[in-house]
Formats: sequence, structure tokens, C-alpha cells
Amino acid sequence: MTLAAAQDSDTTNGTRTVNVAASGLASVAVTATEADDDTSSGTQSLVVTPTSVSVPEGSTATYSVRLSRQPTASVSVASAAASGGDADITVSAGSSLTFTTSNWNTAQTVRLAAAQDSDQTNGTRTINVSSSGLTSVAVAATEADDDGVTNPTHVDNPYAGADGYVNPDWSAKAAAEPGGSAVANISTGVWMDRIAAIAGSSSAMGMRAHLDEALEQDAANGSRPLTIQFVIYNLPNRDCSALASNGELKIAENGLNRYKTEYIDPIAAIMGESQYRGLRIVAIVEIDSLPNLVTNTGIAACAEAQRTGAYVEGVQYALNKLHAIPNVYNYVDAAHHGWLGWDSNFGPAAQLFASTARGTTAGMASVDGFILNTANYSALREPYFSASTTVNGQSVRQSDWLDWNFYADELSFAQAFRTRLISEGFSSNIGMLIDTSRNGWGGSARPSGPSTSTNVNEFVDQSRVDRRIHAGNWCNQSGAGLGERPRANPETGIDAYVWIKPPGESDGSSRLIDNDQGKGFDRMCDPTYEGNDRNGNSATGALPDAPISGAWFSAQFRQLLANAYPAL
Ligand code: BGC
Repeated sequence: MTLAAAQDSDTTNGTRTVNVAASGLASVAVTATEADDDTSSGTQSLVVTPTSVSVPEGSTATYSVRLSRQPTASVSVASAAASGGDADITVSAGSSLTFTTSNWNTAQTVRLAAAQDSDQTNGTRTINVSSSGLTSVAVAATEADDDGVTNPTHVDNPYAGADGYVNPDWSAKAAAEPGGSAVANISTGVWMDRIAAIAGSSSAMGMRAHLDEALEQDAANGSRPLTIQFVIYNLPNRDCSALASNGELKIAENGLNRYKTEYIDPIAAIMGESQYRGLRIVAIVEIDSLPNLVTNTGIAACAEAQRTGAYVEGVQYALNKLHAIPNVYNYVDAAHHGWLGWDSNFGPAAQLFASTARGTTAGMASVDGFILNTANYSALREPYFSASTTVNGQSVRQSDWLDWNFYADELSFAQAFRTRLISEGFSSNIGMLIDTSRNGWGGSARPSGPSTSTNVNEFVDQSRVDRRIHAGNWCNQSGAGLGERPRANPETGIDAYVWIKPPGESDGSSRLIDNDQGKGFDRMCDPTYEGNDRNGNSATGALPDAPISGAWFSAQFRQLLANAYPAL
């Protein structure tokens, strides 16, 4: 017969009588005495569980400590990383614990952290658990590396199933505005709008800092991939048909070479670093550049961009360098319906995109898709009419607002333009992005149904949700609101709604403001300007007192929040 004594936490040698009995025979009493192992007379020791811990890179893991016996006075226990081993593994909590005469038997937790690194090895480090006069216990900590994605698959839609990178710089500005925390966790584009933006500054994170932060966000979001969006925006003669976003490089000043060697090369080198292989990196390629070659070569800076081939060659160079990195996805900017929605622009633009892509090393495959409406205000949908609506026998296309455009909104244009691009030779896997950061048009001015007017102009003006004065207006638009929140696969052919223009960042200054970024003063940002032929000589609808493009414009952000559609 075997007797058992369970573990307890007292320090006494407990006794118990065990009666041995059989029918018809005299019973015998056996006295059992526990040989207690908790008394101060035995050897005190550290009980550590487990002694081997796997710590996920960018995260934490724990072990626990208690004493084996009741001490006569408080005992302190230290956990310290041994010198040598992987310095990224550290003790982040519980490095000094105290056990008293009453809690000595209750396990306490020590937390280990493994900082993000760029190697692909599972680093190890010994953590010594020690207490004066007691035998130390070694805990073997092993980092579970997350950089070992050597051959990432180039998926069809980098947004599908992924979370979006939250830019801490933008997020902090948004969160500091009243009500801004409602949107501060939304993913927005990170603009590489000059060479110096790659390295960053004391007030703006550089590219590597963003990617390192993206690794942390990726490590913290479980198994979902993370998509980070960079805007490649620094061609020489940038923004050739306007002034507000003119840049630092000029074609006549060796700008194309500088673009390649001082801008695209370093960007591609950083994006290509192996530790970033697990991220999905979206490159938004050169806003408004190729569309300017379709419609604006009457302007000298655009004519120069066309004549010298600088825009096409610059875009091809960027596509080549970036497409060579398997986890980078190229989306080329294709303006918006209010720019390319006429047949005279639609076909020629599709052909220019096709010939440009054909001239890259990988051909059509270097383009994953196109983005529309970047930093613009075109409504995603006009719910109360389409381009085929007629009013009293007249097509809405002949209204002043549509001015014979074949599309009334961005979604219909996006789907039609995609089909056209595919017929020009692009893969049927291309997907469109639509920048919905500021095309919400909610608020009290939003119509709630179609107009009953039988006058075509009146009908369109009363029915349209896009409340701009003219569809050619683009700068800091009065009345605009935040649009659809970013999401993947919202409609056929659309890879995602995205927020590329960070809401709250100005489109341009409403008067001349000195700056060292090459930014000019475009009167389309001046609320007192009466317009030009690209906006039907209309008022600009721009908000007053705006800072230079890219700078924080609090009044605009507050208006966007107030007029969000869908509402927040
Ligand atoms: C500006 C950039 C800025 C971007 C995002 C552009 O209009 O030219 O400098 O980074 O908007 O706000």
C-alpha cells in the first residue's frame, strides 16, 4: 500500500491515521507523518518555470518565479540578461521581485522582450535568475525571428486581407484636432515629396523610420500582413501645369539624372532591404505627371517634360527599380474623371500609359494598377444621376457641370478606364485605387434626392453631391468632407479605396509664402481668384488662409471631419 503526501505551503509535518480493516479481522491503525519540505530547515531554492522561453521578434514572452520554501525574511530575486548573446533580447518587466514570508509560494512574472531587428536568425540570450545565497537558474531565451520571408509572393491585390500602416506623424496631428481621434488610426499615404524626405528630419520620419515602424505594426497585428503606401513624387518639372506643388528638380538643371540617382536609387535600395520583405509596399507613382502630357503641353514646363522625354523616362526608371523588388506594388497615377473623362483624353491617356509600361524592362508586368483622384475631390458616386441620364429629352452631359464629360463620377470612370487599359494591353489582373480621403461631400449641403427641375443645368446643379463650383477646382475645396474609409475590394475592378492625400494637409497656399521646397503660389488656391480656362473661368472655391502644400491646415481638417460622408 502506498501513501501520498500532496504539496502544501505550510511548514508543519502533518499527521494522519490510516485504518487498515478487513471484515471479521481486527483493524490496525497506521500513523502517517508528512515529511514537510517547506520548512526553513531544508534548502531554499528558486523555482523558475519554464527555463526555456521563445520570444517573438517585436513582442514579449514570460516566465515565472517563486521560492521553494517559506523564507524567514523577504527575499529579492533578480533577473538579468547575461552579457553576450543577442542584445535585442532584454528583461522588460519583473527584473527585481520581492518574496515575503507570506507570498513566497505565489509565482511572479518576468517579461522578456525581443526588439525588431533586420537579421533573419533566431538570436539567443541567457537570462540569469539569482538571489543572494541561492543557486542561480539560467533561462534560455530564443527570439522567434520574423524576417525570414525570403521569397514573398507578389499577390494580386496587396490590400486584400491586410491592415494599413498608420503614419505616426500624421496620426498625431489628426489626433490633436477636436474629434480627430475618430480617424487618427486610419492608414494614409507617406509622401516622399523631396530628396530630403527619404532621410527625414527632427520633425518628420524618414523612409527607413516609417518602414521600421511598419515592421512593429506588422508584428503587433497577428498574422495579417501590413500594407504601407509611399508616394513617389519628385519628377523634374513636377506639377508642370500648376504652381502649388512645383518641386526641387528642374529638367534644365540635370533634374532627370538627379531624380534617378539621388531619389529613386536610394528609395529602391531601402525598400529592397531584406528585413522589409514581409511588408507589402505600395508605390504611388508620380501624381499628375503622364496626364499632364496628354492635356497640358500648351504650358511651357509640360512641353519641356514631353519634348525631353523626362516624365516618361523618369516614370519608367521608377517602375523598373521598384518592380524589381518582389514585395513592391506599382500603382501609376491616372488623374481623375474630371481630367481624362472626355474621349479626346481617355484613349490617348490609356495609350500613353501602355507605351510607357511597354518600355520598361518587365513591360506591362511592372504595373500592378492605377490610382485615381489622388488629392482630388471628385465624388466617388453621384447617386442621383449618371452620364446617361436625360432631363426633358436632354442629356445631362450637356450641362455646364459635366460639359460633355462621359463620366459623372469617379467609380464609373475607374471601372471604364480599367477596361480600356486592359484593351491597350495591360494585364486583366490590374486593379484600380481611388483616393477617397476628401471626396465625401456630406454635411447639410448634400442633396437628399434628385432635383425635380426640367432644366438640365438646374437639375444637375441641384442633384450633384459634389458641391464644387467647377469640377476643375482642386485646391483646399470649401464644403468637402472625408470620403469612404480605406478598404480592399470595394467594387469590381477596384483593389481598394485609399487615403493617399493625408486629410488636413494643404493643397497649396492661398497667397505667396516663402519656402525652400520649390513650392509656388497657384492662384487656384486663392479664394479671390476668378479662374482660368481649366476651371471654366470660375471662382476657385478654395478655403482662405491656407499654408503651403503639405503643411498642416487645421481649418480644412475640421471641415473635412464635419462633412464626412459616410458620416463618422
Ligand atoms: C505636396 C507635398 C505633400 C503632399 C501631401 C502635395 O500637394 O506637394 O509636399 O507631401 O501634397 O500632403
